[in-house]
Amino acid sequence: MSELITDPRAAAQRLRDGALVAVPTETVYGLAADAENDTAVRRVFEVKGRPLGHPLIVHLDQPADAERWATQIDPRLADLMARHWPGPLTVIVPKAAWVPDVITGGQPTVALRVPDHPLTRRVLAELTKIKGGPAAVVAPSANRFGEVSPTTAAHVIAGLGARLGQQDAVLDGGHCRIGVESTVVALVGGSLRVLRPGSVAIEQALHADVAQPEDADADLVPRVPGALAAHYAPDTAVTLTDEGVNDEELMNLAAGRDPTKVALIAPSCVATPVGWLRLAAPLNNEEYARTLYSSLRAADASGVELLVVVPPSTGGLGDAVRDRLVRAAAGSRRS
Ligand code: TXA
Ligand code: MG
Repeated sequence: MSELITDPRAAAQRLRDGALVAVPTETVYGLAADAENDTAVRRVFEVKGRPLGHPLIVHLDQPADAERWATQIDPRLADLMARHWPGPLTVIVPKAAWVPDVITGGQPTVALRVPDHPLTRRVLAELTKIKGGPAAVVAPSANRFGEVSPTTAAHVIAGLGARLGQQDAVLDGGHCRIGVESTVVALVGGSLRVLRPGSVAIEQALHADVAQPEDADADLVPRVPGALAAHYAPDTAVTLTDEGVNDEELMNLAAGRDPTKVALIAPSCVATPVGWLRLAAPLNNEEYARTLYSSLRAADASGVELLVVVPPSTGGLGDAVRDRLVRAAAGSRRS
């Protein structure tokens, strides 16, 4: 069983000693290990139950540290990094020769991001101090593989507590501000491509796109586990509706069921059918993202048989939420 801590220096010391520390970020909690400690990095896969070969994001202390990890950084990616770091943007870049395969899944690229949470920034700064050089941690979302990502320390403990050891810890940084994972952007065939939508708006990222079909990176084929069809899934069966579903269509989705065994997540403008349990009524896409994973967990805790979800509108964070909802619905147990 791991300890719940609040001191970033203690967290850094544990990371230095090779332990795992779940850390808060602005997106979701990550399960951190010193990126230069292969044994600790391997334990991340073990604890998560994540197959080796699924690459991890390296979380840097400072934006300038990217140069240590990459051989070259395309100017369009550099531009995005300059505008969004620290922040919820992950870039895929060609890796430096020394970067271990266990991090990159044997791919020639590495994923980099500078997180924007005050506690975790202090953890990274302290780790840099202790190590006497630029520190970095790998930090996949701190959940079992395929399950719903954690947005509070309590979520991490509920999912991984029993799998972590005494040396490990969970750093409590409150509820994550954004609530869905970072936007992942790669250069594919000479063009910028969003591999996983997040709060850095897709249109904004693609705006920097200047297609160059002859680019040398044309054969780069990234693997994105977060993009598996079934991911982010609660145990409860999930039915995802169209955005414009009307009251009658909504009610018909639970025809023949005990209405008290049906839960609803929908934008605040959607009314709750009589008897259903309303788990979330977000006023906008930001609130939808921030509460999404807690609401999916609440569905499991409530004991309902069916969770009906009306998606947010498209654009910006709405796209990120819709992406996770499609995967949650694909991964959920069918009723
Ligand atoms: O917001 C986030 O990014 C959170 C917080 C904790 O920072 N982390 C996170 O990590 O979501 P994880 O491991 O759950 O997701 C990492 C994503 C996956 O979709 C993975 O495939 C992609 O980044 N990725 C990592 N390295 C890659 C690479 N070399 N090429 C392509 N995709 C890569
Ligand atoms: Mg994940």
